[in-house]
Amino acid sequence: MNGRDLVRSMKRVGSVGASQGLRTVRAAWRRRRADAAGLPARGAERARVPGPVQEVEPAPGGGTLRFSRSELRILVAVNGAVFWGWDGAGPEPSYALAGRCPEPDPRAVLEPDKDGGWRVVAERVTVVVSRHGAIEVCTPGGVMLRREMPPRWWEPQDGGAARWMQRSEVAADARFFGLGGRASGPRLRSGTYRLWNTDPGRAFGRGDDPLYLTMPVQVVVSDAGTHLMFHDTSWDGTVTLREGEEGAGSGHDRAGACELRMDGGPLRCWVMVGTPARVLLAWASLTGAPALPPAWALGHHHARWGFGSEQEVRRVVAGYQEHGLPLDAVHLDIDHYDEHQVFTVDQDRFPKLAVLAEELRRDGIRLVSIVDPAVRATPGNAVYDSGLAADVFVRDASGQLVEGVVWPGEAVFPDFTHARVRRWWGGLYAERTAQGFSGFWHDMNEPTSFAAFGEPTLPRSARHALEGRGGDHREAHNVYGLCMAWAAYEGLRELVPEERPFVFSRSGWAGLQRYGGTWSGDVATGWPGLRASLSLVMGLGLCGVPYSGPDVGGFDGSPSPELYLRWFQLGAYLPLFRTHASLKAGRREPWEFGPEVLEHARAALVERRRLLPYLTTLAYLARRTGAPYVRPLWWGSPEDRALRDCEDAFLLGDCLLVAPVLDPGADRRAVQLPRGLWYDTATGRSYRGPGQVVVDAPLSRIPVFARAGAVIPVRGDEGLELEVWAPARGRSGGGLVVRGLGDGWEEPEVERYVTRRAGRRVLVEREGEDGVYEPSHPVRVRGLDEG
Ligand code: NOJ
Repeated sequence: MNGRDLVRSMKRVGSVGASQGLRTVRAAWRRRRADAAGLPARGAERARVPGPVQEVEPAPGGGTLRFSRSELRILVAVNGAVFWGWDGAGPEPSYALAGRCPEPDPRAVLEPDKDGGWRVVAERVTVVVSRHGAIEVCTPGGVMLRREMPPRWWEPQDGGAARWMQRSEVAADARFFGLGGRASGPRLRSGTYRLWNTDPGRAFGRGDDPLYLTMPVQVVVSDAGTHLMFHDTSWDGTVTLREGEEGAGSGHDRAGACELRMDGGPLRCWVMVGTPARVLLAWASLTGAPALPPAWALGHHHARWGFGSEQEVRRVVAGYQEHGLPLDAVHLDIDHYDEHQVFTVDQDRFPKLAVLAEELRRDGIRLVSIVDPAVRATPGNAVYDSGLAADVFVRDASGQLVEGVVWPGEAVFPDFTHARVRRWWGGLYAERTAQGFSGFWHDMNEPTSFAAFGEPTLPRSARHALEGRGGDHREAHNVYGLCMAWAAYEGLRELVPEERPFVFSRSGWAGLQRYGGTWSGDVATGWPGLRASLSLVMGLGLCGVPYSGPDVGGFDGSPSPELYLRWFQLGAYLPLFRTHASLKAGRREPWEFGPEVLEHARAALVERRRLLPYLTTLAYLARRTGAPYVRPLWWGSPEDRALRDCEDAFLLGDCLLVAPVLDPGADRRAVQLPRGLWYDTATGRSYRGPGQVVVDAPLSRIPVFARAGAVIPVRGDEGLELEVWAPARGRSGGGLVVRGLGDGWEEPEVERYVTRRAGRRVLVEREGEDGVYEPSHPVRVRGLDEG
């Protein structure tokens, strides 16, 4: 965004005046000057490649290969993941890892291969290293999944960080997914994707890249298998993908290609091979189990930038109640702060916030607070004063505080890459919990600092502790939001030990799921924005962050009643179901769009509430297995090429397939079904996959299919019920039911059900340790006449 756009957009949102515009010009100049002084100029560079291998030193799980101009360390870990690092890079330290590097798998040994190369044979993967440092990742059957060419470095002759480039090849039929939250996915087509968390400065659409949450995680799916490749380096870089093409007739295949170019940082990576479920399991075991949201966070959230007063919050909540619409959380944006300063309350407009929070809680509604990292740099601001005293803010190389401009004006930024700073920050949430807030919405934490030109973030030369290693913003930028979430999560665990923290963050990096989830950010109101919002949720789930969702209705405009409703219907099946919009955009309350929309939105909300036991089950499974709630259709059949290209529907857990309406005027839509028997849950009609079917999608609902044999826990009038979809003739089915997952740390009960078809009957049994039992809940069988 240029300066004019920025000032225009600020005026549009109406929260800052022209003086803020001038500040952003000054901030941009400051940033530019700081980098000119603080970063070494890039002079002449020397290119380097590894050269031929010279000696090899085996070690548990792999070993070290010494090339004439570099060395390569390979390690197969017990969780089946393979690490390798060039130039002596080891797996630690890393912000992505949940703890220490997993133990080596002693069964994996380095052994000579043909043509002077070497290989490590592990249970699920074979890694072959050529004598010049090309690395092939192969299935146990020897089929190549990925070939990494020898890397190339460019080293500044006067010292400093080396840039590097890594080219790879994948199969011609392979499809790329991931790279964090991307608007143009979930299938990442040929193009260049940047790895630098960025606030686009305006509502984004399908073509905008990068966005707030990037990460160097690629999930690659091909006929030969699925792999996840993680380049563990937080520096700025780009990934250029080129999808392959299969040669027609006797023509040659063109392999898929990936070129990763990084401005610095270690060249090291992890690769995981197997089925999608196995790959995500290994990824979660490496980077951490997803935090389990409290049960209420799986309900419906309503946010607004500009409630403006307690009375307005009450009015909106009353509106939900009067219209019979379930509501579980209300989110307060920056307008409830005192002059936009985090950890304060505007006492004139929110004089009795704690009382409001208490009243809402009695009605089963939680209050969630936005939290921005920027602290207004004004003496007398308690957060600033305490931060100065504790020396927590980011400084430049000369020791000066780095100032930027965010909503409160001139601001400074905590350095979350320091354990001491994280503790200080985590303690500040005491002010929020005392006001009665139950959850936290981290914003502007790329970090964003408005700039009239150049990048809207901190100078690259800004210094960071990086856990005592010391470094600058080039390395710390992409992990800033991750470390802020870490600070909040740890702080909340101490402040409210009896409840599971609820944190979701606009920015983040690999491993964010340990502390919470995310949301789509400022997605543009419009049909392309609706599609983009689904792309983000799917892509993030494949990168290990399973809890996210969009701003229903889009952030910046006034959706038509139809668009609002279609977005609402999609949101009702996503992990985070939240209505939200910018200060000047139209309202997002369901009754603002006329009686027809209200009726259908109510149906979506009621269905969401009915499905809560299923969603809690999925949340628990995500924690235990890393499997996202929202999965691409190819999750269980990655070999089905048509499914790999299908971007407009998703699996919600194992049992449901959701086909949102993403186009205006549609009242029917085509749905690509994976193999097996599926029931349209509205009509009860069954369809057999694989293949495409066309079904009704009237304004009142979006198509949702249930897998034959599914056992779905739902909330009935009398409590938990099991909705069982008849297995196909001669087939069986089943499902898990996770019970008793509230808001605390209690261990839930996990029940396992099996179901069989016996003629006109469907048997449903609960599996116990020593036999099968009657189901513990009422059972309702559906689809009997069809299956
Ligand atoms: C940007 C966030 O993305 C948006 O959700 C929020 O409403 C505004 N900042 C104001 O805090």
